[in-house]
Amino acid sequence: MTTPDLSAPVIRLSGVTKRFGATTALKDADLSVERGEIVVLLGLSGSGKSTLLRHLDGLETPTAGTVEVLGSSVPSLSGAALRALRSRVGFIFQQFELVPSLTVLENVLTGSLSTVRGPRLGLWSYSRAAKLRALGHLERVGLLDRAYQRSDTLSGGQQQRVAIARALMQRPEILLADEPVASLDPESSDQVMALIREIAADEGLTVVCSLHQVDLAISWADRIVGLRHGEIVLDTSTTGLSKAEVMEIYGRVATTTAELAVVADELGAGSASLVGGVPVATGTRA
Ligand SMILES: Nc1ncnc2c1ncn2[C@@H]1O[C@H](COP(=O)(O)OP(=O)(O)OP(=O)(O)O)[C@@H](O)[C@H]1O
Ligand SMILES: [Mg+2]
Repeated sequence: MTTPDLSAPVIRLSGVTKRFGATTALKDADLSVERGEIVVLLGLSGSGKSTLLRHLDGLETPTAGTVEVLGSSVPSLSGAALRALRSRVGFIFQQFELVPSLTVLENVLTGSLSTVRGPRLGLWSYSRAAKLRALGHLERVGLLDRAYQRSDTLSGGQQQRVAIARALMQRPEILLADEPVASLDPESSDQVMALIREIAADEGLTVVCSLHQVDLAISWADRIVGLRHGEIVLDTSTTGLSKAEVMEIYGRVATTTAELAVVADELGAGSASLVGGVPVATGTRA
């Protein structure tokens, strides 16, 4: 075996187009993500965020273009090779997707079964080492005291934290999150997003997370990739963004001029710099 090149991008999409019948969900998308980056895919409903994420896990195959993740060409993988890749990529969803009737601990343990479909028959079927590791992850997400509670009795924020603990059981290198806080209240959203960041830093994870809230994306991500009608229209670091650059992000991913006017007012940026509802480019790598 050759030694993996740790400096190579862990995710590389090149010219990816995805059509569903008459709908073009992704259009000639190029994206390269380095190890350890925290990237948000930002865009309105239908802009192609989930479709892009699903390509990274082999849940979709591109109509054209190439998708490489952790050195493998994802569309060419199947069977054991695809399962091996998926075991290195954790996925968190908007609806948590826990098994409601199982305890919190059992749900976390199912994360260690990336090669087995469906839950096992009870705690006894897992090794002691796996149980200890699951309890450790529950402690990490602040839910150790809930280990033996049924998961459907937890709040939404707690359930998403269980889903994070479950994803960690795989020892992933990449964490994909599709609108992980879309069904949570603002306080739980903040907690969950902060937790994902902390864990990513501790574990050296690469994170790609879709969101539709511009403000949350700017405060949380290292880098924002904006999608609009399936096209990548923005790709910028969030470090030291000026007001004009923040306005540009809103301009590129938001649609309504009303929304843009509100943001302009809030930033005190006025709307003078806007041309036809889209701010003049100010140096982002679009
Ligand atoms: N399996 C599918 N069959 C047909 N069309 C699809 C399929 N999956 C996605 N699409 C279409 O592709 C486009 C992009 O969808 P996608 O789910 O990627 O958007 P999104 O940005 O995740 O939206 P949301 O914020 O609502 O989750 C949409 O027009 C959607 O209707
Ligand atoms: Mg989606």
